[in-house]
Formats: sequence, C-alpha cells, structure tokens
Amino acid sequence: MNTSDPFDFRDRHVFVSGGSSGINLGIADAFARRGAKLSILSRSQSRIDGALEQLRRHGGEAEGHSADVRDTGAVTAALGAAQQRFGAIDVLVSGAAGNFLAPALGMSSNGFKTVVDIDLLGSFNVLRAAHEFLRKPGACVISISASQAFVPTPYQAHVCAAKAGVDMLTRVLAMEWGADGIRINSIVPGPIEGTEGVRRLAPNEAEQQRITERVPLGRYGTLDDIAGIAMVLASPLGGYITGVVLPVDGGISLSGPRDFSAAWAATRRDA
Ligand code: NAP
Ligand code: COA
Repeated sequence: MNTSDPFDFRDRHVFVSGGSSGINLGIADAFARRGAKLSILSRSQSRIDGALEQLRRHGGEAEGHSADVRDTGAVTAALGAAQQRFGAIDVLVSGAAGNFLAPALGMSSNGFKTVVDIDLLGSFNVLRAAHEFLRKPGACVISISASQAFVPTPYQAHVCAAKAGVDMLTRVLAMEWGADGIRINSIVPGPIEGTEGVRRLAPNEAEQQRITERVPLGRYGTLDDIAGIAMVLASPLGGYITGVVLPVDGGISLSGPRDFSAAWAATRRDA
C-alpha cells in the first residue's frame, strides 16, 4: 500500500453483502476504482453478473457469491470462498436489506419477520460468520443502517425494529471485537437518488419533491456521498473510530418522521 495516500486500497479485500445494486454497489465501485479486490454477495445471479461487469471495468478484480443472508450455511461458504480467492477481508460492508411500506396492521407476522430476518438477523449472520475471515488486527466493518433506527416512523415498524437492532449490534461488537483490532461502525444514508429504497418510499413525483423539501441541505444524496464516508472509515484516517452510528443524510433525520400515508396509499397491494 502507498502509505502517503490514505485512499489507496490496492491489495485490500473488500466484501460487500447486498453489493449487487444501489448504495452498496456504489460503495463497492468506489473501492474498486481505488484498486481493491471485491467480493460481493446477493441472491440474484443476474444482478451479481451486472455488478461484476461494472466493478471489473472500473479496475478492480471482483468475484460474486449468490447467497441469501438468511442462510447461515450459504453465507459462511461464500465468506470462506472469498477468503480463499483474495485473502483475509480488510473491509466488510453489511448492507443487504429489504423494505416495503405498510402499517403494522397491514403486515402479517411473516411480513414483519421477513424484514427483521434480512436486515437484522441477516446482518448478524454476515458479521458473525465473517469474524473468522477478517484481518486481525486492522479490519473495518461498516453496517448500512437507516434513520428509521432512531426516528420512529409510521408504516416502517419492521424496518425501525430491524435497523435499531443493527445499530445496537454495531455498538456491542465494537466493544467485543475491539481487542481483535476490528473496528465497526454504522453509516445511516439519507435519501439517495436513483436507488430502490427511494423508489419504494417515494413512488411518484409528488412524494419525491416532498423529500427534497425536508432535507436541510435541499437535495438528494448521491452514491458518492455514501461511498466517500465508507472510504474514510476504512482508511487510516478512520483508525480511531469505532461503535459510531453516523448519519450521512443532508440533515433529514433532524426533521422527524416522514409522513408515508400518501406513499402507502399509492403502493398498497390491496388498493
Ligand atoms: P437495493 O438496491 O435494493 O440493495 C439491496 C441489496 O441487498 C441488493 O443487492 C439485493 O440483491 C440485496 N439483498 C436483498 N435481500 C437479500 C437477501 N435476503 N440476501 C442477500 N442479499 C439480499 O437498495 P438500496 O436502496 O441501495 O439500499 C441499500 C442499503 O441502504 C440498505 O441497507 C438500505 O436499508 C439502506 N438505506 C437506503 C436508503 C436509500 O435512500 N436508498 C436510505 C437509507 C438506508 P438481491 O435482490 O440480488 O438479493
Ligand atoms: N405489504 C405488506 N406485506 C408485504 C408486502 C407489502 N408491500 N410485501 C411483502 N409482504 C409480506 C408478504 O405478504 C409475506 O408475508 P405472508 O407470507 O404473510 O403473505 C412476507 O412479506 C414475505 O414476502 P416475500 O415476497 O415472500 O419475501 P421475500 O423474502 O421474497 O422478499 C421483500 C423480501 C418482501 C423485502 C422483497 O421486497 C425484497 O426482496 N426486497 C429487496 C429489495 C429492497 O427492498 N430494496 C430496498 C432496500 S431498503
């Protein structure tokens, strides 16, 4: 590594769960552009193939693993194969997630459980299984959270519960794994333009406009806004930061819960 450039990630191994699209792919892409070797995991092989084509075009060596984060055996096998290919994992990004709008009375127990299983239990599965394969000392773990973790938000009971758990895992594991030289932090993205998360929560132009009005900085975030912070955390500049939940959201989480009633009405399955 070129020690004079903190963002030189040549020969670093970055593993991204949920890395085949959106914010997580944006993070993977930023590391690939700076020389890292990328391992990405998600369910859909075709989405993985598209992401690998992008990552390789942008300079990084990259491999994909088709697995569901709810399947501990498949997750462990993917992490093991990734270590075999590129060596110990220097940076682990845990970002696989699912979401839909529904009031608590509009979701079944299985609907609630599905999001908790992907976002929270899935994060635990990835982090728990990865510990064996992380570089010790030196690894940096980044969980991708959401403001629902600390802003109680109607129509998002499942995500609020799951992401609050994700952030508590960040704090607990920062304490348990600090002695191994592993740092772990959460990034809390705001509304990021062009992503599936925004498409699901702001399904039409009126809803999209309402978001901009609520962001103190007056604009959507970009993939680079999130990837830049991920790189700072993973670089020597972030070497003394652990257990932090960091909003990167233009300030939107300061303005309280969004009103999703109109967005739900536009997307509800029984409409
Ligand atoms: P996205 O493009 O839908 O990304 C989700 C990724 O997770 C996809 O690669 C998906 O691929 C994978 N995934 C979903 N379920 C999975 C499972 N069970 N097992 C393995 N992989 C799974 O969404 P995004 O909007 O970019 O969101 C990315 C992250 O940012 C999420 O953690 C989300 O909560 C957070 N976030 C997003 C926003 C936003 O504005 N978009 C705001 C705040 C927080 P497959 O379908 O192939 O599995
Ligand atoms: N409203 C209410 N309940 C819903 C729902 C909605 N819009 N969408 C799904 N559910 C319920 C289903 O009815 C089912 O419950 P049931 O068995 O009692 O009927 C449960 O959720 C599981 O649905 P299923 O489609 O089988 O789950 P899945 O594991 O195939 O997919 C999701 C998980 C639902 C989260 C799916 O949207 C997904 O894969 N999302 C990933 C992409 C994403 O959400 N990106 C944004 C990230 S922030």
